[in-house]
Amino acid sequence: MEKKFVRETRCFKVARVFPTDVNNHDTLFGGKLMSYIDDIASISASKLCRASAVTASTDSVDFLQPIRQTDSVSLESFVTYTGRTSMEIFVKVIREDLLSGERKIAATSFLTFVALGEDNRPMEVPQIVPETEEEKKLFETADERALMRKHRRAESKKFADYLLTTYPWE
Ligand SMILES: CC(C)(COP(=O)(O)OP(=O)(O)OC[C@H]1O[C@@H](n2cnc3c(N)ncnc32)[C@H](O)[C@@H]1OP(=O)(O)O)[C@@H](O)C(=O)NCCC(=O)NCCS
Repeated sequence: MEKKFVRETRCFKVARVFPTDVNNHDTLFGGKLMSYIDDIASISASKLCRASAVTASTDSVDFLQPIRQTDSVSLESFVTYTGRTSMEIFVKVIREDLLSGERKIAATSFLTFVALGEDNRPMEVPQIVPETEEEKKLFETADERALMRKHRRAESKKFADYLLTTYPWE
C-alpha cells in the first residue's frame, strides 16, 4: 500500500476580511469561514488520494475567537489519519491582528473526506505517515474520533428514518 507523509498534504490559505464577509457583529460570517474550511480540507484530501474526494462529514467547527476586519485569517489543513477509503483532515484557523501582530487560534475543525474512483464508488487511499509532534499526536488520537463518528453515523441514519420529506405547504 502506497504511503504519503502528512507534509505532502499540507495546505495554507491567508485572506483579508472584507466588508462583504462579515455578519451583523462586524466579525467574519461563520458560513464564510465554514466554506473556507471545507475548501482547503478538500485540497488536502485530493493531495493524498489524487482522485475526486467528497466531504462525508464535519465533526464540528469550534469558533473560539471572533475574526475582525482588522485581522487576517489563515487556514492550515492536513490529512491526520486514513481509513481504507476515508481521510480525516484537520483544519486550524489563526486570526492575526494586522496592527499589533497578535495571533490567536480562532477555530479548529475535523472533517472526513472519502475518495471516489471513476465508478463513483469509494476507493482505497494511501496511508498517511506523521512526522512532527503535532502530527503524531493527532494521528494517535484519531482512532477514538473515528469510533465516535461511526456511532454518530449510525445514529444519524436512524434519525433520518424518522424525518419526513414533505414540504410544509404540501
Ligand atoms: C460519503 C459517501 C461517499 C460514503 O459512501 P458509502 O457508499 O456509504 O460508503 P461506505 O459506507 O463504504 O463508507 C466509505 C468510507 O466512508 C466513511 N464514512 C462514510 N460516511 C461517513 C461519515 N458520515 N462520517 C465519517 N466517515 C464516513 C466510512 O467509515 C468508510 O471509511 P473507510 O473506508 O475508511 O473505512 C456517501 O455517503 C456520499 O456520497 N455522501 C454524500 C457526500 C457529498 O455529497 N458531500 C458533499 C456535501 S454537500
